[in-house]
Order: sequence, then C-alpha cells, then structure tokens
Amino acid sequence: MKQFEQAIVRIPCDRFPEGITPGSLGKADVASARKQHQAYIETLKACGVKVTVLEAENDFPDSCFVEDPAIVTDRVAIITRFGAASRSGETPLILPAITAVYGDHIETIQAPGTVEGGDICQVGEHFFIGLSLRTNDEGARQLGEILKKYGFTSSTIDIRKYKTVLHLKTGMSYLGNDTFIVMPEIMDEPELKKYTKLVVTPEESYAANCIRVNDFVIIPAGFTNAIAQVEGAGFKTLPLEMSEFRKQDGGLSCLSLRIPELHFASQ
Ligand code: GLY
Repeated sequence: MKQFEQAIVRIPCDRFPEGITPGSLGKADVASARKQHQAYIETLKACGVKVTVLEAENDFPDSCFVEDPAIVTDRVAIITRFGAASRSGETPLILPAITAVYGDHIETIQAPGTVEGGDICQVGEHFFIGLSLRTNDEGARQLGEILKKYGFTSSTIDIRKYKTVLHLKTGMSYLGNDTFIVMPEIMDEPELKKYTKLVVTPEESYAANCIRVNDFVIIPAGFTNAIAQVEGAGFKTLPLEMSEFRKQDGGLSCLSLRIPELHFASQ
C-alpha cells in the first residue's frame, strides 16, 4: 500500500544534546545521532518515500523533531503553535518546506491555542488529538474545527494523567488494519476500544512510538518483544537504532513529516 509519497526531515544540530527533554539515559552523542538519522533517511527511501532533508539549525536543539511544528494531510497542512515556548522559533523555520509542498493550502493554530504534531495521531479520516502539557484544550478545539472544514473527524485523548508520556504518539502508534501498538498505560483508553491493541511491556514502552510507512513498520531496534508482536500481527518491520534520540525523549515519528499523495479541493 502506498500511503506516503514524501517526507521532510531535518539533520540533528551540534546543540542536539541541549534539547528541552533530556531523559535519564545520558548525554546524546551528536555524531551517533547523525549516523542514526542518516539510516532513518535511507529507510524512508527504502519504503518508497522521497525525502527532503533540511539543514541543521543550531539555534534550536530540538529542531530535528520536525513532526511538532506542522500536521500534514492529503488536503491541507496545519502550522501548529508550540506548547513548549522555547521551541516556537522552529515554526518559521519549517514554513518554507511546507509552503513548497502545500502552497496556500495551509492553516494555522492561533494563540492561545497550542498544538504539537506529536500529539496528533491519524487513523484514516479520523484524528486523535492528545491533550498534553504541550497541546491545550483551545488548540484541540481549533484543530478540530480546521479538520472538520476539510472533511475529517477528530476526538481527544487526555494524556495529562500519564506523567511519563510526553506526546500522544509517545504512547501509541497506529499501524494500519485497525491495529495500534500502545504503552500499557494507554491500552484501556475508551477511544481505542474498538481497535486491536498490541501492548508493549513496561520495559519496552519506547517501542510504542513507531511508524507505518507504506508496506513497512519502522520500529526501534532491540525491542524484541514489541518487534515479535508487530510481526506476529502480520506487519513487516524495519528496526532502526534510536538510542541517541531516545535520550532526548524523541521517537521515530518525531523525526519526519510524512506526506501522502495530495488532493487539494478546487478553489
Ligand atoms: N524532545 C522534544 C521535545 O521535548 O519537544
């Protein structure tokens, strides 16, 4: 299945280890992060995706996490408004790349709304919007209105009670075939009731962030139980080493904007 045609990524910058959410796994190594990022690019290409690679931006340590400043769909791109104020400078940096693809088919979240792309999980024509420390109720409301205007539906999942879950997609990813991979904390979410759920073990919770790209599921390497579950459910996996991004609480989805074939409404 060809779901995505192209992707936008940004090279990790020299100040990557200074990002705003360092975890307890030690300091990220920039050279290793770049090597892992290059493998990520090659893997997207192997999945049949054309990749636009943006230059490193040293003023913004988290700027390789390009998923957060925009939400991309087949009919509109939505420029978000960061909940993390220190990342707000990344918004103008991503705009030219988005405009190159979407022209004037772009909408924008306005203050006081905040939305970060990591909190948005698309399942077909429906979008789950995570209410988090980064995405607030007003942002979710605005996003829901924009999505409705373009023929999508949406609903919210409040993850503020899960202290270890930064963004919605930190804790759950849609794999296709009505199947999610989820952290144990999220498995009982009423919004996910009708779906099949592959529940990762608490030790492998990082593997709940993976990405379905065309015929493959790209998944963090080394998470053997999660990989076995995904393969057992009939998906082909491409494991990738993600150690340096994990140190900065970043995952596979955070590293790209994945864009499907575009279908703009005639004006
Ligand atoms: N680790 C990326 C962020 O905190 O936004």
